[in-house]
Amino acid sequence: MPANGLGTYSLTGQVCLDSVGAALASGVRLIDTAYMYGNEAEVGRAVRESGVPREEVFVTTKLYPSQFSGAEAAIEEALEKMDLGYIDLMLLHHPGAGDVEAYCAMERALTAGKLRAIGLSCYYVDELTAFLPRVSVKPALVQNEIHPYCQDAEVVPFIHDQGTAVQAWYPLGGRGHNDELLSDPVLASIAQTHVVSIPQVILWWALQRGVVIPGSSNPAHIEEDDRLYHFALTEEEMAAIAALNRNEKHDWY
Ligand SMILES: NC(=O)c1ccc[n+]([C@@H]2O[C@H](COP(=O)([O-])OP(=O)(O)OC[C@H]3O[C@@H](n4cnc5c(N)ncnc54)[C@H](OP(=O)(O)O)[C@@H]3O)[C@@H](O)[C@H]2O)c1
Repeated sequence: MPANGLGTYSLTGQVCLDSVGAALASGVRLIDTAYMYGNEAEVGRAVRESGVPREEVFVTTKLYPSQFSGAEAAIEEALEKMDLGYIDLMLLHHPGAGDVEAYCAMERALTAGKLRAIGLSCYYVDELTAFLPRVSVKPALVQNEIHPYCQDAEVVPFIHDQGTAVQAWYPLGGRGHNDELLSDPVLASIAQTHVVSIPQVILWWALQRGVVIPGSSNPAHIEEDDRLYHFALTEEEMAAIAALNRNEKHDWY
């Protein structure tokens, strides 16, 4: 699985087609969507029309709790809408009634080769402790809200200890919530030292702890957010960012 990619929350219609197209053209190979974003068809179409071979692209989608009671049909619906032959990773979007049964339906689709990997989103220590003993296939990945103001300092190592990858949603603080984070003086000073942008500092910090999926509809930002491998943060800089944690979630789940 690619370490970083493009999130498509709130990107719909032509904006979604253009953003996914720009991401794939600039070398991004992981695209994250969900039933709830209402753009699975556009994501699938942008991948098909990109000219990038299907097997080089990693596509994630998610079942929403409203779909849990009919998960088998919902998985088929996602496969049909995306029209990519298979889905690389499917997650349960967040806990809800019937989540274990929905996960079992994903396990069956995994065995049938319709899904290549399965996992969870918005599951923290208590939720995972209750959920994991009830399913057979270990989640490949858990996607949770993680950014410098909400670091999930205990949750990340707990998930890694299960042998499960962690992926950060809202890595830049979240669309509509990121003004303060993207002008934070500690991050600004680190960015200045490395002659990179504040988003690049945040994304590299996140990559050192897990994997990330920043969202953007701006081709220049998409390219900037993917160019992360030419600098490294020192231990002191990582510690300075760790000290910014306020356990401040920017969304409710
Ligand atoms: N599993 C879940 O429950 C869940 C929940 C929320 C989100 N997600 C996933 O996580 C992804 C990321 O979340 P998000 O898109 O809401 O928030 P985000 O990545 O934290 O922030 C996106 C915002 O940052 C801006 N941005 C991106 N790159 C930038 C750059 N280099 N410089 C300046 N601004 C930049 C974007 O504006 P521009 O468009 O102008 O670049 C956009 O307003 C979503 O797309 C979705 O795939 C998952």
